[in-house]
Amino acid sequence: MSSVLQRTVLLLSLLVVVANQLVTARTGKFLHITDIHLDSSYVEGSDPEQLCHRGTGNAGPLGAVRTKCDSSPALVKKTFDFIANKYSDVDFVIYTGDSARHDRDDDLPRSMENVINEQKEVVGHFNKIFGPKVYPVIGNNDVEPHNSCDENDEQFKTIASIWQPLALNTSNHHYTRGGYFYEDVVPGKIRTVHTNTLLFYKDNKKAKADCKSPDGIGSMHLAWLKDVLEESRQQGYSVYILAHIPPTSKKGKAYYTDDCLDGYLSLLGTYKETVVGHFAGHYNNDILSAIVEDDGKYKQLSALKKKKTIKRKTVKSSNFITPLFNTPSVIPTFNPSIRVFTYETEGTKQYPVGTILDWHQYYLNMDDNGRDYELEYQASKLFNVNHFDGKGVEKAFTLMLDNQSVHKEYLDHVTVNTDDNDQDDD
Ligand SMILES: *[C@@H]1O[C@H](CO)[C@@H](O)[C@H](O)[C@H]1NC(C)=O
Ligand SMILES: *[C@@H]1O[C@H](CO)[C@@H](O)[C@H](O)[C@H]1NC(C)=O
Repeated sequence: MSSVLQRTVLLLSLLVVVANQLVTARTGKFLHITDIHLDSSYVEGSDPEQLCHRGTGNAGPLGAVRTKCDSSPALVKKTFDFIANKYSDVDFVIYTGDSARHDRDDDLPRSMENVINEQKEVVGHFNKIFGPKVYPVIGNNDVEPHNSCDENDEQFKTIASIWQPLALNTSNHHYTRGGYFYEDVVPGKIRTVHTNTLLFYKDNKKAKADCKSPDGIGSMHLAWLKDVLEESRQQGYSVYILAHIPPTSKKGKAYYTDDCLDGYLSLLGTYKETVVGHFAGHYNNDILSAIVEDDGKYKQLSALKKKKTIKRKTVKSSNFITPLFNTPSVIPTFNPSIRVFTYETEGTKQYPVGTILDWHQYYLNMDDNGRDYELEYQASKLFNVNHFDGKGVEKAFTLMLDNQSVHKEYLDHVTVNTDDNDQDDD
């Protein structure tokens, strides 16, 4: 080769290396895991009708899919082993709650001790792999009785002490008041807002989720949320809102009281430039939705509905602004799963720092024992979308309207490739 050609080749390959670095340097990844529901009383070979606690039946070594049983310790271990092998290098982990088992078994009611110990075990698993890189929220089954808490609840302190190895901003004095706090997960760039959705939840038995009167617990939470979002906007932060219970169920019914739902959605809408993603769990399904603006009102629009699919008219006339991600659970209501998000680490004019670029959804096929977690789908490929902001979700919805096979695949993923038996929500 002539030396000119050699130099040109060298220069070109150098450019490729630099370009590659520019591309890889702009993306990071984080893990989202939710609803682990560890059951220390799980008995292999027991009867799923008896919550996998006794009797004789087909409760498998890892659990019993499509039943009301919680997660066996072996399933939880397998899940964390997979994460440790493949994803111990993520930038951080968001954990949207529910470590403890359900209180479904009248013959084996949960004690406060169970609830605390199951959370401790789960935190132990996280801590071994990630230390303080884990960002948690309180789930409706992490308190006793479930669903319920009040302002200044003693349980907030108990949970804080369990969370000690994880990320909990102890200088944030609002935590002991409401169980909510925020963290600067990427200082100067991305802030995680850890909500306590029990304060908005209709089924809270200890205190009314009141967002109407100024001193209601819901109003208190909304006021704090507004302050944090306002401050974040002024400081140029992008915000990830973390919630255990999403605003509405998979069927579109409100989980929050009407006033709380209105107030919450209106904050997500008002701060649309700041909130680049909303992440929740709770109902175990994989659901993609968005906050849409319609005549100055903000609503949540979900891409579920099997027979009555979302209407093209609605998608066309709605202004999609904020993406809401509902990651499916580890508890084997459906096949157990975990998700790895890819995000924008620098930000551009069009796509602020933190914008979700993609996710890889992993699942464990419970009908085929012996298999490990494997890739279920990659969002950018399924939806042909490379930025999951509001517009990206709109593009995904439109594709599902246009292409039956994509819609069908999405519907399979809603129940993590498990035959749908329409389990309860919580
Ligand atoms: C912790 O919270 C305080 C006050 O609420 C805030 O000023 C600080 O930036 C937070 N620190 C981190 C690491 O998130
Ligand atoms: C629908 O999507 C699938 C999967 O991406 C693709 O193979 C197929 O060609 C699409 N069909 C139409 C009509 O666009």
